[in-house]
Amino acid sequence: MTSPSRRALIAGNWKMHRTIAGSVELARAIADGARIGARTDVVVAPVATALAAVATALRGTAVQVAGQHCHWEDQGAFTGEISAEMLADAGCRWCLVGHSERRHLFAETDAMVHRKTVAVLRRGLVPIVCVGETLAEREGGVTFEVLRRQWQGAIGDLTGDDALRFAGGLVLAYEPVWAIGTGRTAKASDAQAAHAYLRDRIRHDFGDVADRVRILYGGSVKPDNAAELLAQPDVDGLLVGGASLDAAGFSRIIQAAG
Ligand code: PGA
Repeated sequence: MTSPSRRALIAGNWKMHRTIAGSVELARAIADGARIGARTDVVVAPVATALAAVATALRGTAVQVAGQHCHWEDQGAFTGEISAEMLADAGCRWCLVGHSERRHLFAETDAMVHRKTVAVLRRGLVPIVCVGETLAEREGGVTFEVLRRQWQGAIGDLTGDDALRFAGGLVLAYEPVWAIGTGRTAKASDAQAAHAYLRDRIRHDFGDVADRVRILYGGSVKPDNAAELLAQPDVDGLLVGGASLDAAGFSRIIQAAG
């Protein structure tokens, strides 16, 4: 797996699951049960109502907390939204941006993904920017075109210097839409091809910073396919949905990272 210049990152996206008490219980079970390697970062993304409680429960452990999305403004008349500043206040150090469910169910555009990415970076959080093609796009042979558009849309006018200036860096997650929640994982070789393409684009726009940007794979990751995916040279970690709701299974996925 991965180059010596990149730590592994295993992130659990809990989506709209669990109450506050259930989230704290799950977070504690992961922190207590998982053997987390010295070169692995572990992050969980609970529902917004549970963020502060989970962050408090995880204090002093190796597991960190992410928001699932945020708005680009710090505050204002945006009913239902949460800002990156508020996520930081709740104890988050990371935030998912542009998850395919946000893009496809809630009409998030590349322009919105860009504004959120910048807002998250400015607040000193690490954005985990999600990109990925639909089944129709894959079958239509336009996968790389879609990835290129979504990557360029997310970074907009950000430069490699910007990415370096913001301490936490930037993480990309390749999540083919057809693999999310379907039980249909991308073949490891297809994931590697998409990741290599994305790293090429990052190098094109950011230069050598590309060697430090972590690219996660997401889409029906399970304990028994994690190791094969992580063995690919450009797969630096995993973004796990359904399987992250089971502490024992998620711990096995964490162990696969070393
Ligand atoms: P899944 O979800 O692991 O349940 O396919 C992945 C994701 O949406 O991040």
